Amino acid sequence: MFENLNYSHSRIALLAKLNNATNYLEIGVQSGFTFLSVDLPLKVAVDPYLKFNPLDRKKDGEYFFQMSSNDFFGGLAGNSPVVQELYAKNKLAFDIIFIDGLHTYKQSYKDFINSLAYSHEKTLFIIDDTIPCDIYSAINNQEKSLSERRRACMYGTPWHGDVYKTIFTIHDYHPDISYCTILNAGNPQTILWKTKKERSQKKFKSIDDINNMSFYDMISNARLLMPTSIEELPKHIFNYLDPDQDANIAIFEKSIWINSLPYINNTIYNINKSCEVCIQAIMNSCSWKITKPLRFLRHALTKISSKTL
Ligand SMILES: C[S@@+](CC[C@H](N)C(=O)[O-])C[C@H]1O[C@@H](n2cnc3c(N)ncnc32)[C@H](O)[C@@H]1O
Repeated sequence: MFENLNYSHSRIALLAKLNNATNYLEIGVQSGFTFLSVDLPLKVAVDPYLKFNPLDRKKDGEYFFQMSSNDFFGGLAGNSPVVQELYAKNKLAFDIIFIDGLHTYKQSYKDFINSLAYSHEKTLFIIDDTIPCDIYSAINNQEKSLSERRRACMYGTPWHGDVYKTIFTIHDYHPDISYCTILNAGNPQTILWKTKKERSQKKFKSIDDINNMSFYDMISNARLLMPTSIEELPKHIFNYLDPDQDANIAIFEKSIWINSLPYINNTIYNINKSCEVCIQAIMNSCSWKITKPLRFLRHALTKISSKTL
C-alpha cells in the first residue's frame, strides 16, 4: 500500500481511495509530472507558465487553464462555456485539490481560501512545500533564495518559500480544518480536511506575528505543523488531531537532521578544496621528494570530497 509514496501522484492515488475521489484540481502544474499521472476521470490544471502545450495532451476529462490561480478562481464565477461545462460535470466541488503554485505565504493562503469555495465536506486538500529544508529555502523570494544559497557556497536549488506560515494561519484561524504534514516520503506536504478541532487555542498574537516568523520560529513551533509519517496518514484522515498529543516530533527531528547533511558535505568539500589549493601551492615550490606524499594526500582528499557529495 505504501509503495512509491515519494511521488505526489501516488499520494494522490492513496487519498483518492480514502475519499472515493473522481475529480481533481491542481494549482501549479509546470511540466505535468504529477497532473498527467493522476488517474481520475475529471482533472483541472491551472498554471500561467505551463511547460508543455496542453493542446498536444488534451484527453477527455482534462481541462487546462493557462493563467494565474487568482484569475482562474476569479473566472469560475463567470459564465464561460468551459466553466459551464465543468459546472455541469461536477458542480465545481473538487474531491482532491493540490495547491502547488507560487510558494509564498500570501499566495498559498489565498489559493487555500479560494479553493474552499470549490470543495465539499469530504474534499482532501494538499498543500505542497510546507516545511522548508533550510534557511535559504525558506526565503520567500525565489531569486533571493537562490542567490543567498550560492553566496553561502551551497549547491542545489530547493525553494519552499514561506508556505509554512499558511499552516500556522490555518491552525489559528480555521478551527474547522484538521491537517497533518507528511515528512518521511518525498517533499513535505500538508494534507487537510474538514473536521472541527475539539478545542481551538490561538498560538500567535496576530497575523503579523505569523508573517514575521523565521525558519527558526518554524522549528520551535513544529508541533503545530502536525508532523506525521506516510504510514500514519490513513488513520488520521477525517479525524480530529491534537498537535500536543498526535504530532510525531521524532519524525520532524529526523528530517531536520537529514536536511543538515548537505551542510556537512558542503563543509567537507570546502575544506578539501582549500587543502588542495594549499598543497598545490607547496608542490609548485618544492622538490619531488617532498611533493610525492603531498600528491598522495591531494589524491586522497579529492577522492573523499567526490564521495561525500
Ligand atoms: C513546483 S511547480 C509545480 C509542480 C507540479 N505541481 C508537480 O507536482 O509536478 C510550481 C508551478 O507553479 C506555477 N505558478 C507560479 N505562480 C502561479 C500562480 N500565481 N498561479 C498558478 N500557478 C503558479 C509555476 O509556473 C510552476 O509551474
